[in-house]
Amino acid sequence: MSDKLGNMRRTHTCCELGADDVGSEVVLMGWVQRRRDHGGVIFVDLRDREGITQVVFNPEVSPKVHEKAHVLRSEYVIGIRGKVEKRLEGMTNPKLKTGEIEVLVTELKIFNAAETPPFIIEDNVDVSENIRLKFRHIDLRRTLFQKNIIKRHRASASVRQYLNSRRFVDIETPVLTRSTPEGARDYLVPSRVNPGLFYALPQSPQIFKQLLMISGFDRYYQIVKCFRDEDLRADRQPEFTQIDMEMSFVGEEDVMDVTEELMMNLFKDVLGTDLKTPFPRLSYEDAVGRFGLDKPDIRFDLELVNISDIVENAGFKVFADAVKKGGIVKALNAKGGINFTRKEIDDLTEFVAVYRAKGLAWIKVHEDSWQSPIAKFFTEDEKQVLAQRIDMQAGDLVFFVADQPKVTNEALGNLRNFLGKKLGLVQENTFSFVWVTRFPLLEYDENEKRYQALHHPFTAPLEEDYDLLEKDPLSVRSRAYDLVLNGSEIGGGSIRIHQRELQERVFAALGMDRKTYEEKFGFLLSALDSGAPPHGGIAFGFDRLVMILCGQSSIRDVIPFPKTQKAACLLTNAPSEADKAQLDELSLRTKKS
Ligand code: AMO
Ligand code: AMP
Repeated sequence: MSDKLGNMRRTHTCCELGADDVGSEVVLMGWVQRRRDHGGVIFVDLRDREGITQVVFNPEVSPKVHEKAHVLRSEYVIGIRGKVEKRLEGMTNPKLKTGEIEVLVTELKIFNAAETPPFIIEDNVDVSENIRLKFRHIDLRRTLFQKNIIKRHRASASVRQYLNSRRFVDIETPVLTRSTPEGARDYLVPSRVNPGLFYALPQSPQIFKQLLMISGFDRYYQIVKCFRDEDLRADRQPEFTQIDMEMSFVGEEDVMDVTEELMMNLFKDVLGTDLKTPFPRLSYEDAVGRFGLDKPDIRFDLELVNISDIVENAGFKVFADAVKKGGIVKALNAKGGINFTRKEIDDLTEFVAVYRAKGLAWIKVHEDSWQSPIAKFFTEDEKQVLAQRIDMQAGDLVFFVADQPKVTNEALGNLRNFLGKKLGLVQENTFSFVWVTRFPLLEYDENEKRYQALHHPFTAPLEEDYDLLEKDPLSVRSRAYDLVLNGSEIGGGSIRIHQRELQERVFAALGMDRKTYEEKFGFLLSALDSGAPPHGGIAFGFDRLVMILCGQSSIRDVIPFPKTQKAACLLTNAPSEADKAQLDELSLRTKKS
């Protein structure tokens, strides 16, 4: 039988008591972290959200209570009353905030027993993640998670406080809605009362926040769940949280200013760090040109060098042909990398193959010669020009990829990130923000054989590129911007289209005829006709931001109940089968039923 709470009430948390409290009577409640028996005296580390306090059961002080304490095991939930005492000389624990004292127990209540936990509740325990996810409620008791989740709370509180102070209004938008085009698959929800019809869960509140600007709310925000059925990775979950914002009567600079202040406040509040603003800005073209990726990690230099013009007419056919076929050849100089082994270089060749690079040529630069499978293809003159362009010095190892621009840039951009870590170029504990601006408005989807919005279809084109919308859609630049932190895309937004005519031209460029766009987005077009202010906004990946604030490498570590790579919740066993009656009611039949 468990003891009742009765009129026992906590006086302190398990992280509060110190030398100043010696002599006072206190009541603590929490979980048994550990029980140790020492020559008749029982010591228990009592744990709650805040920390640990050592409590002591002494047979000579309270024999009955001491007797009762024998049943205590890890994770039992107890309450104790007792007197704070100074620990004996030599018994203090400087690692604990409460390490100078202990509580001598005079009353013990055992609220609940607990089964032996499936793993020890300590940080750095070696258990598979699947087991930890199955017993997530227990795993969350670990100090690391308690810290992460509480930091997450502090982060959202800071964001809310800042935005509230800047006249943003927190407004909820629907979860049962229509498809929102953010480029992923939708999660669909069948409608019982409309047989055969489905809601889509929002990939983002994009259209609603624009409608709120048209309704005159001026400044909106929401910390909101979004749903995307896409391939999962360490930084992606099927349901994730955005800090979503929209502002009326603004241009890019206004959104960026608010963002920078928001980030400054956030990092100050949560980490005590002072960020330097304004954040540097790179055009998409420069980001990809210099770093290979549209989310460059600018904590280190190591830039890509374009050598297409040099190799176009040189003797190495692979390079020359690539350029002639519309591709590019770029080099990456891993300074001082001459000691890489053949095996390491072969591994890197496999690494770039993941990004569809067909090879990875290399040159090791010695004092008076090159060691390389491709050196023989170049004349002395060409070698000199290359050496100068790439700044080749003795001791360097230079890598090359020749391919279509997308493949060359992605392969070398990712290789750059890998080498940055391997060569120790990345300064840890720094926060390098960078804005990437002027993204292309559209991209060509090879699978679907049509243009797609790179951001979403409501993003405004740069005014100077309007004329290209029909003539040369792929070269139209947009008023979109991404915020990148340490090579991770933590936010993206744009100035929106606020006039029907331009929105229709963009829909048309996306290959939609009038009937299609009227059917899908007629309500938005008619809203644009009703008096739409110029507006723009941004959304941040809150989980990714918190992950970085917590120094974690997976967003699963900052989400209380995350899903696996297969989008499953191992704790509740979701998703699960629906029974026949439920399916009938929804007018659904699965392939199995
Ligand atoms: P976007 O699609 O770029 O923009 O999303 C904004 C930010 O959300 C985060 N994010 C994710 N985080 C975890 N798991 C995912 N599956 C996931 N997908 C995206 C990223 C990303 O930068 N409506 C626009 C914003 C706007 O235009 O205002 C939007 O949703 O950090
Ligand atoms: P090969 O002449 O095919 O043996 O290639 C010579 C070197 O060039 C090898 O180191 C290959 O890895 C490299 N290589 C082949 N194709 C490419 C390419 N498209 N880009 C960069 N290097 C390549």
